[in-house]
Amino acid sequence: MELRIDRQALVPVVQQIVDALVCWLHCNNLAPGARLPPVRQIARINLLSQSCVVEACERLVVQGVLESRQGAVFVVAAPTPDARDRQDDLWFQGTQPGPSSELQLGCGGLPESWRESDDLSYAIRQVSRTDMAGLFNYSTPLGLPALREQILKRLKPLAINVEANRIMTTAGASQGLDLIVRTLFKPGDCVVVESPGYPMLFDLLRLHAISMFEVPRTPHGPDVAVLEQLLLEHRPKGLFINSFHHNPTGGSLVPVVAQRVLQLTRKHGVLLIEDDVYADLHSGTGTRLAALDDRVIYVGSYSKTLSSSLRVGFVVASADVIARLAEVKMISSMGASRFCESVLACLLANGAYRKLLKRQRQRLNTDRQAALQLLEDAEWEVFGKPTAGLFIWARSRWMDCAQMQARAQRHGVVLSCATAFSPVGEAADWQRINVACACDPRARAFFQATAPNRHQAF
Ligand SMILES: Cc1ncc(COP(=O)(O)O)c(C=O)c1O
Repeated sequence: MELRIDRQALVPVVQQIVDALVCWLHCNNLAPGARLPPVRQIARINLLSQSCVVEACERLVVQGVLESRQGAVFVVAAPTPDARDRQDDLWFQGTQPGPSSELQLGCGGLPESWRESDDLSYAIRQVSRTDMAGLFNYSTPLGLPALREQILKRLKPLAINVEANRIMTTAGASQGLDLIVRTLFKPGDCVVVESPGYPMLFDLLRLHAISMFEVPRTPHGPDVAVLEQLLLEHRPKGLFINSFHHNPTGGSLVPVVAQRVLQLTRKHGVLLIEDDVYADLHSGTGTRLAALDDRVIYVGSYSKTLSSSLRVGFVVASADVIARLAEVKMISSMGASRFCESVLACLLANGAYRKLLKRQRQRLNTDRQAALQLLEDAEWEVFGKPTAGLFIWARSRWMDCAQMQARAQRHGVVLSCATAFSPVGEAADWQRINVACACDPRARAFFQATAPNRHQAF
């Protein structure tokens, strides 16, 4: 078993072994119970230490991919989520990466094999050993001051310069959006949302009986001509924009569009909410709406890079708005998790988060190039060719949605739901492709199977 470990790469060797083993398992299509080659042999062939190989295998045990037997023997685990888990998973079908035997090609986060646990485990131990308040106490209404200070430092390069009373932590961006919708809007209000766009935002607005008008998302941001028309005709109260590495198209707001959006929202007195949860996947700065106008409400998160499980996000807004949001946050949840906030503050302060981002961006850049090539080879149409972030939005020129789904199923690939990204549930033949999953052998085989068969034509 040759694993092709690159010792110059930024990705730690154990992580590379994990990825390579997952790939090997998929390519060899082993049945549950099948035995992995002996650790000693894998280590010898690949010039690795046995302890590195064992550690990689143990991580795969934790992920439910392998099972361990006595004497450092590892076998393929049986995929047996209990019925209750399967029921819970329905919420995230096709959108959340997980240890399922199928590849969720359109999932909304990094796959488990990309997640790195060493620094996170270190920070968790550090907080557990040294920070009694972090272990046991409520957080403060605006969130842990040490964390807010670190977040503000990270916002400075984006030209978002605000004081500490203008930032509040939340349980992920989701809680931020929920608090904004509950506090600043009321049933019967109408807002403008991007289409295609983030499905959970649509559900959240529906839950609060807020009606939506859709503005088409172009590769450079919302279509400003349509936006102007909507603002004139419907006088909506708010506009939600996912500015950078947009979910699902992968595109980012360009300065000229940002300026026009601000002009229009100012003129029509519209509340502007900028969702920037994918910000850290890009090393450059770029134009943020919140950097150009103090009235913009800015939402961020650490789910997409560090861990979706920690549930740490934040909102930046005017001091008045933050005070109102904080009150609702305390009434509804007694604040966010102080433990998770302390863990994140530790990783931001000791530089581990910054290094993690460097590795993730490098991997994403390599895989994005490869994914775009695969799509070009299969003659897919790509929306706006993203240069950073997690997503590519693309469609086959040759197959409709049903044909694609059937082809995907045959290759062990699950595509995201065709209607998910439309505020009105309209089916699209465009697919959200997660760059971090696109080079998996199952995805490669699927893309190849969607290419036109030129030989048959003659
Ligand atoms: C655009 C967008 N906003 C918000 C969220 C929610 O993020 P969090 O996990 O921080 O709640 C997501 C998650 O997929 C997203 O794609």
